[in-house]
This record gives sequence, structure tokens and C-alpha cells, in this order.
Amino acid sequence: MADQKTWGGRFSKPAADSLTAYTESVSFDRRLWAEDIRGSAAHARMLARQGVISEDDCAALLQGLEQVRGEIESGAFEWKVELEDVHMNIEARLTEIVGPVGGKLHTGRSRNDQVALDLRLYVDARLAEWRRLAMALVRVLADKARDHTDTLLPGCTHLQPAQPVSLAHHLLAYCFMLQRDVERVDDARKRVRTSPLGAAALAGTTYPLDPAAVAAELGFERVFENSMDAVSDRDFVLEALFAASIIMTHLSRLCEELIIWANPAFGFVKLPDDFSTGSSIMPQKRNPDVCEIMRGKVGRVHGDLMRLLVIMKGLPLTYNRDLQEDKEPFFDADDTVSASLQIMAEMMHAMEFVPERMRAALSKGFLNATELADYLAAKGLPFREAHHVSGRAVALAESRGVGLEDLPLDELKQLSDLVDEGVFEALRFDTAVVRRETRGGAGPGSVQAQLRALEAFLRDCS
Ligand code: ARG
Repeated sequence: MADQKTWGGRFSKPAADSLTAYTESVSFDRRLWAEDIRGSAAHARMLARQGVISEDDCAALLQGLEQVRGEIESGAFEWKVELEDVHMNIEARLTEIVGPVGGKLHTGRSRNDQVALDLRLYVDARLAEWRRLAMALVRVLADKARDHTDTLLPGCTHLQPAQPVSLAHHLLAYCFMLQRDVERVDDARKRVRTSPLGAAALAGTTYPLDPAAVAAELGFERVFENSMDAVSDRDFVLEALFAASIIMTHLSRLCEELIIWANPAFGFVKLPDDFSTGSSIMPQKRNPDVCEIMRGKVGRVHGDLMRLLVIMKGLPLTYNRDLQEDKEPFFDADDTVSASLQIMAEMMHAMEFVPERMRAALSKGFLNATELADYLAAKGLPFREAHHVSGRAVALAESRGVGLEDLPLDELKQLSDLVDEGVFEALRFDTAVVRRETRGGAGPGSVQAQLRALEAFLRDCS
């Protein structure tokens, strides 16, 4: 088998079978086949333009690469583990098709800059897809928010009732998280789109290559500055995995809320039938498995990021074969993030909110206690004292098993002589929301401003 290995020239014994199985990557890196062909075609054209190979050779290579593409697309292509990786598989087949001229494709190139190029093209395309999916989810959530500007529910801190907010305001919080995710992806893409082609193995090459032209042809924004860095840099994958980790964290937080809200003790949402599962023993069950699985899948993606961070941390310059381990974490994170964004959008689109249950929950937990304090403070009582008076009102109401708004006026007056009948207007939950018109607050005007900001984002950044 020594003759089968491209690099086999200097060896007298074939590679051990266990080596082949242990070191191959074609079983997973074949995902890069389209990028590999694209990169090779650009390299071949550049070699011809620079006079390194003839126009005829270039035409043969391009035609051969197109045939390989056809074979892979149709499923006729025979992937061979003994050829190690996607690059060698494609080059070997190309050489079968076009003859010895196939061996000219690799002039001035190494698999080290080739694999970096392929992965950058691939990551860039996938990041474009994540951003599209994230924007689509923002759209769904903003639509739901628009439907629920008048639906009030308890806003929580510490998962305890805090102050009333509109469901719109709550959902919009997730829209802004996702907006940051899109911005993070865009920012990462600036660095992903740096072409490493022309770095060759590590030190550049003696051929008169034109890396800038290849970079431009492939849609990159920049060209590498240092060949040693170019072949060993995987920051771009790490940044993509970091962006993926935060996206998953955001989705997981939403899942957690939906799981809580779906519990009948809350009953704030009815999970769509087609996004719920039953139990094999308890007939009444409507389980939020999709949300739970998504919450669980965060572990994979955070693990993917950790995997690559650990792989990178002890690597000397330049290319080291450890880097072959960079692809599976990215593919895994990509599969997970893409599917999660997609399914969350579908599920949220179908989600039924239960405004009556949300409103009913407002009467538990003294969500208007801050309003009483603010009411007294507005009448001149220092806020700290007003806070204390309101706290005593809460204790009184709690001992009676009623809300603050149910306490008789004269008893409220006994707590502070600043109280008059206007207090009941202040204690209304709707008033509490309507009055919060500070920037980014829960008030309806603020919510409309948030929706406008998101519309501008969706319009300008699509
Ligand atoms: N399969 C390798 C990888 O994924 C390709 C580069 C191999 N380069 C080398 N010098 N062995 O990183």
C-alpha cells in the first residue's frame, strides 16, 4: 500500500492498517469537498495566469475538477480512507481522470494552506446561514411581540415576581440577544474571510503566486500577512464556536422559560401539539421535550468550543496534525446551532400564549409594591422610607391573604398620611407598565420604539 500514499516516496514499508484508520479524516472532512474543488480551481487559474502552468494544463485541470464534482454530487465518487482526507481523494481521482497533469495542481501549494482555505470557505458559508436563521427567528419573535403588546405578565428577578411587564417586552429581550448574535457572527466573518492560500507548507513558496488574486476570486476580504500564521491559525474556528456557544446559551434560556411557563402551575403557554411529546405511562402528559433537548444540546456546543481551545493551547508553530481535530467540533456545533435556530423559529411561530393566566399571575407576589413606594416618594417621602412603608403594607396584605390593591384606604392611610384615594390608580398593574416609558423600559411607547429598532435592523442587515 506504500504506493497508494501520495507522500509514500520515502518509505519502504506500507502504513499499518491501524495507522490508516486512526489518522484518516475523509470520513468527516469530505464535507469540505465543494470548497476543496472551488479552491483548487481558483489555484489552477492563478497558476496559469502567472505562467506556472500552461493554459492547456489549466483547462484540463478545470474540466477534471468539474467531472469530480459531478461524481461526488451523483454519489458515484468512491471515497477511500487509505487516501486519508478529502484533498487527497479529490486529487487522486482528478489524476485518474486527466492523467499526469493532475499532479501539477498542487504546485506551490501544500495541504496546510489548502485545508485552511477550505475550512475558511466552509465556516464562512455556515456563518452566513446561522445569521440568516437567527434573523428569521428575530422576525418570528418580533411578530409575536407585536401581537402581545397588551398582554401583561409578572417580570421576575431571581425567578420571583418583581414588576409587571408586557409579554412583548419580555420577547423583545430575546430579539436583542439574537441581534447581538448576528453582530458577533458578522464580526467573526471579517477574520474568517482572510485567505491563507499561498502560504504553502509554512514558509511561502518560490513560485510567482498571486495570493491576492485568488483571495479576491474566492470572495475573501483579506490575504494572510504571515505564512506561518496562515497555516496554523484556527482562531476563526474558535470565534465561530464562541458565537455558536452564545447563540445556544440564548436559545437555552428561552427553552428554560418555556419549560417553566408550560408547567400547569404557570400555564402561560400551551406548547403546540406538534412540538410536544407524551408519556408512555401518564396519559395526561404534554412534555416540552424539544425545549429540553435544545437546553441539553448546549453542552455539546460549549464542549465543541472547549475541545478546540484545548487542542490549540499547546501547539507550536506551524501546522501540526492535531489541527485535523478542528473540523468535527465545528461540524457538530454547526449541525446543532442550525437545527436549533430553525426549530426554535418553527416552535415559536406555533406557540400559543395564555394571556388570562399571565394576568391572573399578576395578583400573586405584590408586583405593585414598587409602585406604592414610588407613589409615596412622588409625594415627597425619601425613597428609602417609602420603601419601608410599602414593605409594611406588603406584610399587612400578606397576613390577610390579599393584594396591596385590596387593602382598605384607611388602613393604607394609617401606614402613611401621604396616602389618598389616588393610590389605587398607582397600584393598578397596567399603570405600572404604562408609566415605564424610560428608554428601553416596559412601557408601550418604549416597546414600540424597540420594535422600530428591530425593524430597522432586519431591514438594513438582511
Ligand atoms: N487532513 C489534514 C487536516 O485536516 C489535512 C492537512 C494535512 N497536512 C499534513 N501536512 N499532513 O488537517
